[in-house]
Amino acid sequence: MNIDKVQIFRAEILHFLADPAEVGDDISYEYFSDGLMIVKSGLVEAVGHAQDLLARLPADASVTHYPNSLIVPGFIDCHLHYPQTEIIASYGEQLLEWLETYVFPTEREFGDPDKASDVAEFFFDELMRNGTTSALVFGTVHKQSVDAFFSAAQTRRLRMICGKVLMDRNAPDYLTDTPESGYRESKELAERWHGVDRLRYAVTPRFAPTCSDAQLAMAGKLLTEYPDLYLHTHLAENSSEVEWVKELFPDRSGYLDVYAHHGLLTKRSIFAHCLHLNDDDFQLLHKSGAGIAFCPTSNLFLGSGLFNLARAEEQKVKVGLATDIGAGTSFSLLQTISDLYKTQQLRNHRLTPFKSLYLATMGGALTLDLDDLIGNFEPGKEADFIVLDYHATPLLARRLKRCKNLTEKLFALQMLGDDRVVKSVHILGEEAYKR
Ligand code: GUN
Ligand code: ZN
Repeated sequence: MNIDKVQIFRAEILHFLADPAEVGDDISYEYFSDGLMIVKSGLVEAVGHAQDLLARLPADASVTHYPNSLIVPGFIDCHLHYPQTEIIASYGEQLLEWLETYVFPTEREFGDPDKASDVAEFFFDELMRNGTTSALVFGTVHKQSVDAFFSAAQTRRLRMICGKVLMDRNAPDYLTDTPESGYRESKELAERWHGVDRLRYAVTPRFAPTCSDAQLAMAGKLLTEYPDLYLHTHLAENSSEVEWVKELFPDRSGYLDVYAHHGLLTKRSIFAHCLHLNDDDFQLLHKSGAGIAFCPTSNLFLGSGLFNLARAEEQKVKVGLATDIGAGTSFSLLQTISDLYKTQQLRNHRLTPFKSLYLATMGGALTLDLDDLIGNFEPGKEADFIVLDYHATPLLARRLKRCKNLTEKLFALQMLGDDRVVKSVHILGEEAYKR
């Protein structure tokens, strides 16, 4: 890229400066009904009212204009499994049987680097179609699955976090490693990829039931030796899983304590699900700065439960939104928001469309400890943004005609929107996808 390249975009623009649940909707965001964003060398230079900013620019400056469209930061998906792309929508089971029936046989295929590359490319195409520009992603136990993922992400200049799965028990032989090989391969991958371009590495024990104490201790050792790596795992998703963890780790006071005992709680630790936790657990997550990936479509699909977002808010635990593909039923974070809203309705917790969009953007950036780089349009941030089309479908266009304000428009976009709404995706300012 030309180092001083300047790009200018004009549309409605919305982004978040704070958590709407903390400061109130009205002061959580900046909104420009006729907005302008200036991008220089891939970074946000300025965002504001078109009238104000245009006055500062040469009269002949070239402006890309998107009428009837809303520019927001690229969506951030805080937890999903790229190797499960092809088993989305697999019928009938809850977590533990679903893993055995569908997931493990499919993940076996990722020992083949060609298979891994093929699925990784399709996966990134799908992320782009849906406006997801950053994600925290599971590979498989095979190190080549992670190489394939990072190579594809690097070519596309995406900000991505991934890791090789660690699992040394309670899984088929063809899919297990050992604490020693897990250590060696994780270290090798982290040294190859962590901090290269926009890529980062996550130490990735699958979940407590498939990891021995020796393997969890090894994961803790990696975090001590490389303190800026991430830790990415599952926690308290399903009641049978929670009972199983009690049997497997009788000396621990609960599921979270299994991870805490091995030093796996840091400000770069992300725990997917967290449906069956108590107040002490939430306090411990808060104190350690760890975050939760909330996966509404997955939680409904596998019948796992309803996340208590209000409690996470009260106890000030970081929360990001996630699809959890392939247990999640859509790559779209708009569809995920639609189910997010419904899960919270069932708990009598009324989510505003501002809070929902915050969770899919700035909330995700904070959860992934990437808020200094992405998540909103503060000057200097990386210009990953998406253009949403208010006229994407006849129904959406018709519904929006009756909307009286931004709140109503955003809500309709979230309930009715999916990949059809994403008109274009920009990575570091450059158009990476066009519908
Ligand atoms: N728990 C352990 N592995 C998995 C997985 O692949 N998906 C989900 N949803 N939960 C898990
Ligand atoms: Zn998962």
